[in-house]
Amino acid sequence: MAVDVILGLQWGDEGKGKIVDVLAKDYDIVARFQGGPNAGHTLKFDGKKFVLHTVPSGIFRQQLINLIGNGVVIDPITLEREINNLIDAEVAYKGRLLVARKAHLILPTHRYLDAAKEASKGDKKIGSTLKGIGPTYMDKTGRNGLRVGDIERPDFMDRYTALKEKHLGLLAQYPAIDFDLKAEEEKWFSSLKTLQSLDFVDGEYYINKAIKAGKKVLAEGAQGSMLDVDFGTYPFVTSSNTITAGVCTGLGIAPSQIGEVIGITKAYCTRVGGGPFPTELFDETGEFLRKEGQEFGATTGRPRRCGWIDLPQLRYTIMLNGVTQIALTKIDVLDKLETLDLCTAYSFEGEESEDLPYDLCSYEIAPVYKSHDGWQTNLTQAKDFDTLPINAKTYINRLEDLLETPITMVSTGPERKQLIFRSVTEMA
Ligand code: GDP
Ligand code: IMO
Ligand code: MG
Repeated sequence: MAVDVILGLQWGDEGKGKIVDVLAKDYDIVARFQGGPNAGHTLKFDGKKFVLHTVPSGIFRQQLINLIGNGVVIDPITLEREINNLIDAEVAYKGRLLVARKAHLILPTHRYLDAAKEASKGDKKIGSTLKGIGPTYMDKTGRNGLRVGDIERPDFMDRYTALKEKHLGLLAQYPAIDFDLKAEEEKWFSSLKTLQSLDFVDGEYYINKAIKAGKKVLAEGAQGSMLDVDFGTYPFVTSSNTITAGVCTGLGIAPSQIGEVIGITKAYCTRVGGGPFPTELFDETGEFLRKEGQEFGATTGRPRRCGWIDLPQLRYTIMLNGVTQIALTKIDVLDKLETLDLCTAYSFEGEESEDLPYDLCSYEIAPVYKSHDGWQTNLTQAKDFDTLPINAKTYINRLEDLLETPITMVSTGPERKQLIFRSVTEMA
């Protein structure tokens, strides 16, 4: 089993980029398998900060290959911007950043369709990042999409024009939105040259041959399991399978190749955009978490909604993903609190349940909370589990018991070095 997986267990922004960057040094290949520029993965090391949208988070580890898999949707304009940032930081990416030919392209008109559809939804809008994700995946499943490999075909311009015309026809059905297609097309075609300067590969052959040759692969998820198109809080979801199953279709590997599945959760919970969030806090504690955790979107800058950790939700996504270990992030954000709450069950329609209902959107959920004494100690410099204050240790052990999954990593700050690894003997 050669492919380990890192993915988010909540509604995104769990700290995937940071954990991938730390663990990448022990792998040969880091591969993104779904999502696109809706993702914003933050990496901090040596006092520098980078936000990646399409480029895998292994790019700063010099020795390894980074693959943008077939399940990803690529906007060449965003990708070019990211590559320019790598050039500015003197990161040698040539030959180390590969793109699967079967990955789909986001056209400027996909973005316009995203905006038009959202605008037409009024107060029912999803809160999309407006990066064209939904319309691009719709064209993929609708069998109309343009793929990276098509750029190499002689009739690429005809294919582009046909898809653009189709989009313009659709846009005519929506209330008008403001756009300058000519200017965006110029940018898009110019940035295609940067995309073409990367190595295109038949990703499925590339990855399977690498696995056969004994290479270690780390698959990097985007978004979070509660945004999965099948199992998330539909319709307030993204348009891809964000769970472990998406690794197989998004890279072209068999389920039997999956090894460790590292699920990431914050020590509390956030969500950005619309949709249900049972443990959301609308009081000063919610505001405290937003401020202390600097909870503002890495892609859109929007304030994130904040609330307590939700164990029924986490048990659900641990089940869906086959999580073998958990990385608990942002525990330091809770440092100053006197007490914390954990949601251990949901109460709806007069019953308590540890399972999620069919449709979170159509129930008034009352979270059942248990409280936990805070540690009121700064954890940002903590080096090992043993020296953590007792209340922090019992919080971690309690979560581990309730989630029936080992917590092998505890993140105490945004920097690469602020990560505590727990040995098996330290676990409850
Ligand atoms: P991703 O999308 O899952 O990669 O997460 P984001 O980068 O969107 O959001 C996570 C934010 O939390 C970023 O600003 C990270 O730098 C920051 N972060 C990650 N881990 C920690 C942590 O343990 N403590 C604190 N305070 N910040 C963290
Ligand atoms: P990372 O990888 C948090 C949310 C949007 C919106 C919904 C649909 O950084 O964790 P879309 O643009 O996909 O049509 O938006 O999903 N969303 C994210 N929320 N983190 C993300 O990515 C997200 N990507 C999309 O806010 O509610
Ligand atoms: Mg993010």
